[in-house]
Amino acid sequence: MSWTSRIARFYERPLAERLRLIAESGLLSPRSRQHLQRGGGLPVEVADRMSENVLATHGLPLSVALNFRVNGRDVLVPMAVEEPSVVAAASHAARLVRLSGGFWGEASEPCMTAQIQLDAVPDPHEAARRLHAARTRLLHAADEAIPSMVARGGGARDLEVRVLDAEQGWLVVHLYVDVRDAMGANVVDEVAEAVGPVVRAIAGGRLGFRILSNLPLRRMVRVHAVVSADALGGEELADGVARGSRFAELDPFRAVTHNKGVMNGIDAVAVACGQDWRAIEAGAHGYAALNGRYAPLARWTRTPEGVRGELEMPLAVGIVGGSTRVSPAVRAALELVRPADARELAVVIAAAGLATNLAALRALAGEGIQRGHMRLHRRRQALEHAESESAGDRATGSGS
Ligand code: MEV
Repeated sequence: MSWTSRIARFYERPLAERLRLIAESGLLSPRSRQHLQRGGGLPVEVADRMSENVLATHGLPLSVALNFRVNGRDVLVPMAVEEPSVVAAASHAARLVRLSGGFWGEASEPCMTAQIQLDAVPDPHEAARRLHAARTRLLHAADEAIPSMVARGGGARDLEVRVLDAEQGWLVVHLYVDVRDAMGANVVDEVAEAVGPVVRAIAGGRLGFRILSNLPLRRMVRVHAVVSADALGGEELADGVARGSRFAELDPFRAVTHNKGVMNGIDAVAVACGQDWRAIEAGAHGYAALNGRYAPLARWTRTPEGVRGELEMPLAVGIVGGSTRVSPAVRAALELVRPADARELAVVIAAAGLATNLAALRALAGEGIQRGHMRLHRRRQALEHAESESAGDRATGSGS
């Protein structure tokens, strides 16, 4: 490996030099390098093909979080986020975690959930039995709808039937589809629509919605990390991080804020890498509330040496299709992460979430969140001041 994610005093260097240092990693293709050197973003012609009624593009800073080591590999973690301090927080926490070896994690097989819903089914429990008996036929019908996914090694893997309301004959069939390196929404919707009439023919009743579920419980990611009390700044801070995590377990009001801190990292990487962050958010909060009480996605416990953190959540991300194909900035971001497959991207994204969560808990257990925020806020104000001065210069013609 000719590069490292640990680059000293990176944040102090001018932007062009930062870009040069990142390009020196050799991870970026010449095309991506040029794209970033020209300021990045999305060409308006591409934007015009991506959405409707397009007027222009809308920008966000594209940054890189440093110090990440994930499953023994250094990773430069791209982040697109407007909130100051998210990137600094992630990099700082990743530096502490790195001292004990970095983040470790795994993602399950990339199985998405297709839902086929029926109502007015006569005797839904008996219909469920017939559907289970027709499992092979249903999985085959699903595979027939997505031949190119099957050719890529994906396809239908399992089926589940849930009776939602026996009296009214409400029933839903879940088809679990391995979507390989895709995020998979289109593939799964295709399956749901194709298999719906077959399900209806077996179960009877009225065919209702046929679409993916954004709570993909068979597409989970788990990451963990340990940090020594020394690295955190002392035993008191280690206690404080664990107590902060316990607070989130006891109180949904705190758990939401705690999870917001997790999603600061997750969303920032997801946006940079062109992922459907609304789907990720919906799944995350659905999972957090799955047991009927909103809970923290990440938990930190005290160990004799310091703290251990774990994050578990559903995470549907892809490295093919969608904006990964058309957006040059997304291409550049994925080149930096260089995930072997969608599962590896999920682990890196989750590591970023655990990092921003740790940074928040550590700050809250110590000096509070405002001091760090205010430092960065002052930097931004200085920038705004400099920009308004130069705009003033331009308006009066005094700039050079
Ligand atoms: C701010 O964007 C996120 C935090 O509020 C998260 C937290 O409180 O854990 C700092």
